[in-house]
Amino acid sequence: MGFRGSDFFDDDCIFQNYMARREGQENANDTLEKPLIREMMGDVSGLSVLDLGCGDARFGIELLEAGCADYLGVEGSHNMVEAAAGNLHGYPAKVVHSTIEDWPFPAGRFDLVLSRLVLHYIEDLDSLYCRIHQALKPGGRLLFSVEHPVITSTLQTAGQRTNWLVDQYFVNGPRQQHWMGGTVSKYHRTIEDYFLGLQKAGFTVEQLRESRPLRENFLHQETYERRMRIPLFLLLSGRK
Ligand SMILES: C[S@@+](CC[C@H](N)C(=O)[O-])C[C@H]1O[C@@H](n2cnc3c(N)ncnc32)[C@H](O)[C@@H]1O
Repeated sequence: MGFRGSDFFDDDCIFQNYMARREGQENANDTLEKPLIREMMGDVSGLSVLDLGCGDARFGIELLEAGCADYLGVEGSHNMVEAAAGNLHGYPAKVVHSTIEDWPFPAGRFDLVLSRLVLHYIEDLDSLYCRIHQALKPGGRLLFSVEHPVITSTLQTAGQRTNWLVDQYFVNGPRQQHWMGGTVSKYHRTIEDYFLGLQKAGFTVEQLRESRPLRENFLHQETYERRMRIPLFLLLSGRK
């Protein structure tokens, strides 16, 4: 088995750094990515939800409290699975410890497949799109966020970042990043590839967003203005 994104989060130091970053005031996930995921997702009542790379599954609890029928997380990192199992205890929910690549997707089982900030760790996204498509019920949806290709195309391997130079934009593949106190590979691909792959797998692409900041989601004007400089996340949804 080659590199799996989840291995990175099994380093205890990295795991702690990541969790601390997620708790930080005005963190990018809560100010940019999550509000859009919620908006694009809409009403989840009665839905069977699969969350690929669910992390600590705290979002699963929000979905269950918003009325989803059941929630299944697939997560490759042992540290994350342990946190998720604790969080989900007592809910109609489960977390499976498996990499996404190795998990046997059941056919026609889910109304909504979610994946937040995970698919840039996947090498063969086109195959995964097909496996997700067959795991959805007719009319079911895939909704995901990834690091924006403007970001993955600028990954620099050393030092404090002072600029974002887009380079080799049309060269898809792994790029190394020093992040959270370790080094990780993230797969760069273009916006077009994310989009066309969905269509090729049989999805009708319904929404594409680039995490434009909304002032009301920020405490400080300065953070808002900083976030207006470059797009951090790309979000897409497609229907079977
Ligand atoms: C940036 S975190 C996001 C966690 C969660 N989705 C969230 O938004 O809070 C990425 C997660 O994806 C998991 N992950 C990355 N690659 C994976 C893979 N190939 N199989 C399973 N899990 C993976 C990591 O272990 C980590 O928990």
